[in-house]
Amino acid sequence: MPDIDSPRRRSLHGHWSSRLAFVLAVSGSAVGLGNIWRFPYVAGENGGGAFVLVYLVCVFAIGLPIMMAEILIGRRGRRNPVATMALLGEEESGTPAWRWVGIFGVVGGVIILSYYSVIAGWAVGYIFESASGAFTNATVAEVEGTFGDLIGDPLVAGAWHTLFMFISVFVVARGVERGLEQAVRVLMPALIGLLLMLLGYSMMQGAFQEGVEFLFEPRFDELTGGSILEAMGQAFFTLSVGMGAIMAYGAYLPEEASITRTSIAVVLADTGVALLAALVIFPIVFANDMDPASGPGLVFQSLPVAFGQMPGGVIVATIFFVLLTFAAWTSAISLMEPAVAWCMETLEYTRVQAASVVGCIIWLIGVLTVLSFGPLSEVRFLRGTLFDNFDYLTNNIMLPVGGLLIVLFAGWIMAENSSADEIDPEAGLVYRLWRFAARVVAPIAVILVLLNALGLFSSG
Ligand code: PFF
Repeated sequence: MPDIDSPRRRSLHGHWSSRLAFVLAVSGSAVGLGNIWRFPYVAGENGGGAFVLVYLVCVFAIGLPIMMAEILIGRRGRRNPVATMALLGEEESGTPAWRWVGIFGVVGGVIILSYYSVIAGWAVGYIFESASGAFTNATVAEVEGTFGDLIGDPLVAGAWHTLFMFISVFVVARGVERGLEQAVRVLMPALIGLLLMLLGYSMMQGAFQEGVEFLFEPRFDELTGGSILEAMGQAFFTLSVGMGAIMAYGAYLPEEASITRTSIAVVLADTGVALLAALVIFPIVFANDMDPASGPGLVFQSLPVAFGQMPGGVIVATIFFVLLTFAAWTSAISLMEPAVAWCMETLEYTRVQAASVVGCIIWLIGVLTVLSFGPLSEVRFLRGTLFDNFDYLTNNIMLPVGGLLIVLFAGWIMAENSSADEIDPEAGLVYRLWRFAARVVAPIAVILVLLNALGLFSSG
């Protein structure tokens, strides 16, 4: 029996083998489609420059303290996010009602993965398109045609979605350590290496200057309440914070590992990959007269044009989409983990049963996203298509609200002793900085951005 009464609990599902393993796993969760697919297209839709600046501020001022809060809560509770929040809520404030934060997260993860898997499926499909030479010397129009055929046919897109969900369930069913650690150790450096190589291509063949200006020259007049909310939503999404994924991973973190150093390493790696991806993509977009604001298809339409023109492009493109699939895969696993851990602990399912049931539910919801790029693409309400609404609801509302509750809990509800115990028992400068960010900076920033986007300051 786990010792429920001791603040030093043991994890119910084993531990990461080392601090490095944890850093890799959390980086694997953070680095994914959010960096390579979503960041460039959302930055493009929101005018670049100023958006990127707001995004960076959100990552460091809001995302980092929330990531630390999630890890410390996770490690202290050592259970799935629902049980952990109930347990710590009871312990710190006498009410288990905080479990709702965990439930909110489990549901958020399920919805996010439902569409995430569809986009990841596109990447899987592109592995085969690339390997077959479909992009060799292809014009922009031809690449756009290939993309349109893939996403517009529900049977094709649905098949790739199914395959991606299948491989995700497979790894989660095998257990966190065996499946994940080994994969991330090799794939992460490979992804960064390939992006650096593509950066070389972009610098030589793309409109590099124009790309850099678009990304880094702040044009504040283009910033609206809506785009500030987008930037904050992107910061949450890319760091995987706000829904308990990192909390679930924190439950397996060994006692002695430093939460601060781990979080900083992950945030830097994640931000680096996002900026690198954008620096590769925009010069290619501008050199080929493409539209930076073209939306979710941006990466799938711009990069293949470049691959098609470069020597050895078939191989480079194939490797790129393999790596993108893997990056998405390691994120998908973390999106499932809270729900799977919950099923195992509450419904007493085995890991294999839990992963299969959760996987089927997510797959089914994902079919709606598949259809929203095909037969249902004209069905529009609120924010746009079904996909647009899932994306908006999770990233711009659920993650920030979830993150806000998590950071309020860690900063205001938890006793100073408890949080210091996890971050730094000496309660030194770093701890005090974190506590200030968790109590004041992050909550106020999230609330202001949400209110601003609702138009309360009449700028959104
Ligand atoms: N951070 C992942 C990405 O950037 O692709 C997506 C993600 C994973 C979001 C896990 C949320 C999460 F809990």
